[in-house]
Amino acid sequence: MIQTNRLDRGFFKYQQEFEDKALEVLRSGWYILGKEVSSFEESFAAFTGSKYAVGLASGLDALILAFRALGIGKGDEVIVQGNTYIASVMGITINGATPVFVEPDEYYNIDADKIEEKITDKTKAVLVVHLYGQASRMDKVVEICKAHSLKLVEDCAQSHGSCFKGKVTGSFGDVGCFSFYPSKNIGAFGDAGAIVTDNKDIADNIRILRNYGSEKRYHNKVVGMNSRLDELQAGLLSVRLRHAKELNEEKIRVAKRYDELIKNPLIKLPKKREGCDHIYHQYVIRTEKRDELMEYLKANEINTIIHYPIPPHLSEAYAYLGFKEGSFPITESYAGQLLSIPMYNGIYKEEQDRVIEVLNEYKG
Ligand SMILES: Cc1ncc(COP(=O)(O)O)c(C=O)c1O
Repeated sequence: MIQTNRLDRGFFKYQQEFEDKALEVLRSGWYILGKEVSSFEESFAAFTGSKYAVGLASGLDALILAFRALGIGKGDEVIVQGNTYIASVMGITINGATPVFVEPDEYYNIDADKIEEKITDKTKAVLVVHLYGQASRMDKVVEICKAHSLKLVEDCAQSHGSCFKGKVTGSFGDVGCFSFYPSKNIGAFGDAGAIVTDNKDIADNIRILRNYGSEKRYHNKVVGMNSRLDELQAGLLSVRLRHAKELNEEKIRVAKRYDELIKNPLIKLPKKREGCDHIYHQYVIRTEKRDELMEYLKANEINTIIHYPIPPHLSEAYAYLGFKEGSFPITESYAGQLLSIPMYNGIYKEEQDRVIEVLNEYKG
């Protein structure tokens, strides 16, 4: 069976470096908030072209703390695309704020032309999600946020190192939120996340919030959380970060082969936005009879995944928002038509060839 994603291949690529670092941290006797976290934060800030990075326990925590640090909560509205992973929306609602959904564009990111019609006097921020690894239309989004004095938060869980016109995602807004869930382009060996920002007050505030609201031990200023990135994950992430460029480049090469060699009129390949990178966290194809294609691939020993079958506005968790099927037709049609095909570091050429061959033979 060819898997949609395989994490072991990425580990074996740099096995010695990971094992050396793991042993170094284990033998150090220091496991929480130490030199590995500081050093990772410094290199990750540089990687994203930001002044500050703060390591956290997950991508969801990064979103929660970003909105909290920006003072966004009850009574406030945050504009976000409808077709995202539900954690993006949870980052908003856990703070008591209300998500206001916008339909996506043909690149599966927020349709920037549809943002302004959703702005009300309660709107406080826009959350863009650089979904599947491709940057959103940031020139337009930044312009709108400036014109309406809105905060801009970027969900970069899937876009590590991906650029819009040469500027790296995470560096456009007030806060960039990252997940290092193991399957991400820069993945940890467990849960981990971070925020990046150019604003010292926001960085300091989030540093306090991640550690029970205390700057100095037992002197708690506010009610915070325990959302610390641990030393072991930080050390392993530093190893991964050293290789981030080549890891992204490898996925881009695989995507290029798929782009050139998958030729089937029943299948739409992902579109690339002019002047943008796509780092292919996922390689997502689109087809009318998606479930049939998925079954056919499975019968041919190829696993695929749907990102995401139920859009947040139709999930049970958000039934209270009162949306019904048909509320966001483009979002809903993507949920019924998109399919992520095998894409991971270390995927063999023969595996790629087999995926291409089977897709090209599909007759519907
Ligand atoms: C777009 C998006 N936002 C947020 C998250 C949440 O990150 P985490 O799983 O680290 O909490 C994820 C991934 O899981 C994601 O893909």
